[in-house]
Amino acid sequence: MTDEITDKLTVAALAARENAYCPFSRFSVGAALIDENLAMHIGCNVENSAYPEGTCAEANAIGSMVASGGRRIRRIVVAGGHDELETCTPCGGCRQKIAEFADDDTVIVLIDGDGTAEEYSVADLLPKSFRLEQ
Ligand code: THU
Repeated sequence: MTDEITDKLTVAALAARENAYCPFSRFSVGAALIDENLAMHIGCNVENSAYPEGTCAEANAIGSMVASGGRRIRRIVVAGGHDELETCTPCGGCRQKIAEFADDDTVIVLIDGDGTAEEYSVADLLPKSFRLEQ
């Protein structure tokens, strides 16, 4: 997985973030991931007047991946913030959702306020995560 792919995912995450629907929090988030078929999927947060019905950017990107037939996240980039970029670490629910479709070498890339990319594994963000063996 190359820096070039991270760059493409970052551009896509930032573009998805532009389309976020977040009139309540004004915190826009974009996510872009690449799956085991090297297909890219994007998502943004979509809020709702009934607040708990809002969905996160990561969840929507994962939903797109699954609907397209992808099952494994190779790399996911998350970028969010109010007006300016701030580090947006995935919420607890999204960490569990990412873990469901992640492997030991899956990379989670968080874009910092200054635009730099920090890389994490699922074990970094969600140690001892729950997994139902099949
Ligand atoms: N949000 C995400 O999209 N992903 C996260 O991992 C953290 C939070 C969204 C949810 C809500 O629309 C807004 O950011 C503020 O919490």
